[in-house]
Amino acid sequence: MKRFFMRPSQTKRKSRAERGAPNEKNVPRISIRDKRVMKNKRKRRTFLTTTLLLLVGGGAVIGDSSPGVTERLDEIMNRERPLVIAHRGYSMAAPENTLPAFELALLAAADLVELDYFHSADGVPVVFHDDTLDRTTDAVGRWGDGKIPLRSRTLEELRELDAGSWFSERFAGVGIPTLEEALELIQEKSVTLIERKEGDAGTLIELLRRRAMLDDVVIQAFDWDFLADCRELAADVPLGALGPPRREDGSSYPYEERFLNRAFLDRIEKTGATVVGWNRQVTRESVREAQARGLKVWVYTINELDTALELLEMSVDGIISDNPPMVWQALALRAGEWNR
Ligand code: G3P
Ligand code: CA
Repeated sequence: MKRFFMRPSQTKRKSRAERGAPNEKNVPRISIRDKRVMKNKRKRRTFLTTTLLLLVGGGAVIGDSSPGVTERLDEIMNRERPLVIAHRGYSMAAPENTLPAFELALLAAADLVELDYFHSADGVPVVFHDDTLDRTTDAVGRWGDGKIPLRSRTLEELRELDAGSWFSERFAGVGIPTLEEALELIQEKSVTLIERKEGDAGTLIELLRRRAMLDDVVIQAFDWDFLADCRELAADVPLGALGPPRREDGSSYPYEERFLNRAFLDRIEKTGATVVGWNRQVTRESVREAQARGLKVWVYTINELDTALELLEMSVDGIISDNPPMVWQALALRAGEWNR
């Protein structure tokens, strides 16, 4: 720093000889070996400079990423191709919402793995789709009570249930996982799309904060007030608004009014969601309109190849399927322009 404040007299330029600059006589002879060493040094310098520039450039990109999400989630959310999202795990190959279904989804290279959760009677978030236990467990055979609400049983009781045999004997004895157990497995290799079916925002946000996962998952719900609650508790947590929603009185909209439209998008924007999760009632225009507002459109639950191809034609951002390899197939067909 000091040298910038020296007066010209203090910095009087020395002659070439004084500076020891080579003249014809004192120029040392450079051997071929020396030349090679110098060339290598130059190469190393170029390599280091390039690496440094790349790192600095990379830093700029990292700096530009969405606030509050991990680099990997940011990268996934902004992939150029539509995302492959496993619905309740790879639920065509294993019992839905169980650890084997999640493991298979990871093996099928799903970009995100979707799951559903409820709270047990003692307030533990557990991974399950229906509000009663009869369809996907042996609860009725075991407890003989007909339709038993999940929320009426403690975690210890739920642990007794077999959530695999209904699907195939191959999965006999597979249990209902807690949300934490599922997250532990999925987050290792992918990102979880957590659908809240029941339970308060505080419990979920606290769990994710404790596990340092708030910036590495996407939370979605049909209940848009729940999303707004999450947003209040965690300013940056990525949110997805599921639709079509129900009317205020709990009734369904008639079929034609359930398509994604401007009015729904206006409401979704207010929740702070950045993803719209809709059924196939989307159009090319509504997808475009959502994307123009900076929203991603992920469509559920698509298990037929032709429908997946139609949706890709509409430029949706993600397809949620029980069968992730089918979505890969659709993407491959489309990339190869064999989508007719
Ligand atoms: O991801 C959206 C989709 O899972 C919503 O429907 O009933 O399968 O939870 P559902
Ligand atoms: Ca779901």
